[in-house]
Amino acid sequence: MDRIPALKVPQRHAQLYKKHLLALAVLDKQYCVQKHSDGTVTLPILPTSVKHLNLLSLQSSVDPNGSCEIINIQTPQFSRKGKVKSCRERIIDAVQPLVVSRGEKWKQELEDDIPRGWQRHEDLVLFGEGYFSQKIWTELGCELWLAVSHALGVKRIAQITRVSQDGYRTPVVTMLLGDSSCVAHIDNHIRYEFDVTKCMFSFGNITEKLRIASFNCSGETVVDLYAGIGYFTLPYLVHARARHVHACEWNPDAAAALQRNLQLNKVRERCTVHQGDNRLLSLSDIADRVNLGLIPSSEEGWPVACRLLKRETGGILHIHQNITTPVPHQELHKFSDSQSTDVVDSKEAEKASLKNPRDRVVWYCWAKNTAKSIESLLQEITKKTWATNIKHIEHVKSYAPHINHIVLDLECKPIKYICRQEIDFALPGTLNMFSDIHK
Ligand SMILES: C[S@@+](CC[C@H](N)C(=O)[O-])C[C@H]1O[C@@H](n2cnc3c(N)ncnc32)[C@H](O)[C@@H]1O
Repeated sequence: MDRIPALKVPQRHAQLYKKHLLALAVLDKQYCVQKHSDGTVTLPILPTSVKHLNLLSLQSSVDPNGSCEIINIQTPQFSRKGKVKSCRERIIDAVQPLVVSRGEKWKQELEDDIPRGWQRHEDLVLFGEGYFSQKIWTELGCELWLAVSHALGVKRIAQITRVSQDGYRTPVVTMLLGDSSCVAHIDNHIRYEFDVTKCMFSFGNITEKLRIASFNCSGETVVDLYAGIGYFTLPYLVHARARHVHACEWNPDAAAALQRNLQLNKVRERCTVHQGDNRLLSLSDIADRVNLGLIPSSEEGWPVACRLLKRETGGILHIHQNITTPVPHQELHKFSDSQSTDVVDSKEAEKASLKNPRDRVVWYCWAKNTAKSIESLLQEITKKTWATNIKHIEHVKSYAPHINHIVLDLECKPIKYICRQEIDFALPGTLNMFSDIHK
């Protein structure tokens, strides 16, 4: 159980001590003041302020003949204020006194430098890049991270400093507090373990993970061309019951985490991990389904995906893409103040884009062109004629204002398998395939 520092004072002077602690900005307002049966009261103190607190001077201003001491108390209860405050407000409350104790003023630039959103994995928070960039934070060092960890109730802090351009999309993550960078994440009954300094976890793809989990892939062979630590490979195996998944991943750290996650989720024997560049994969003519989960575009994987589809019966390609909707002139000013992609802004962008039917027209045009390109690739590779059918377009997330991450489910069949009725269905209007875009 966590312990926090508190000032133990006689009950009769508690109000006065509280006033002084408030004036010094060291009272930890997120926790309750507690009365004890021995006639004392404990007043929670911000952990980072303990060493700045002059007990003698405090005591002499309240009760020169009495006594007070700092103790650690267990099971602190959140005060009403602590309960209703947002996490960001709690960070600000915790770091403000540190800045003031250094003789600096609390300024808007400092407040703007506090992140609005972050990833949380167990007792570790991962901040995005571009925050805590002011000089004072570096000067405060460990003191700052202890205060932030206390405010968020975590033990480890890490931050993305930049995403490297080495093709691995390896996040450059630095541990700021705590040693171990290994975390576990459970969603939809699947356990993912990985090292935050070596692999990336995409929270934004949860809707797609759930959709895959709802597929019935029993008897199917699936290829996941961009497997990462198993974000999609595992739902295919655990929930969609794929007979076998071939998972391709070229980042050795992600491939190792994937192997471990297959083991943890007891599906190891139904998966083959191909570590290396998927474009060099020697397999062909084996897949009922190919997952192409790479953004901004998976186009480089289209030829290999076409080669993998079963020549006799065809299959389905799940093609991910970030699509930008051109912005009409009058809408530009609406987002001009919100170009930073923090959590709040992207939610606004999502609301705006879902309201916008123009997005869907743009996505459908892209899907039609993609279907044509895939038909040509299939013909080139197999020397046969193929037909494609846009089965569904799934909106995964708003990536940035006017940029949406979508998945096209494209059914591909060699032409001898198409009967007249299916050809009619292969040329639908734009409506039915968007049926669940608003969910
Ligand atoms: C953005 S992650 C996507 C992971 C997962 N599909 C998702 O959307 O959350 C892309 C993964 O594909 C891997 N990758 C990219 N290009 C690759 C290639 N040509 N061959 C094998 N793996 C590749 C990267 O290392 C990375 O782990």
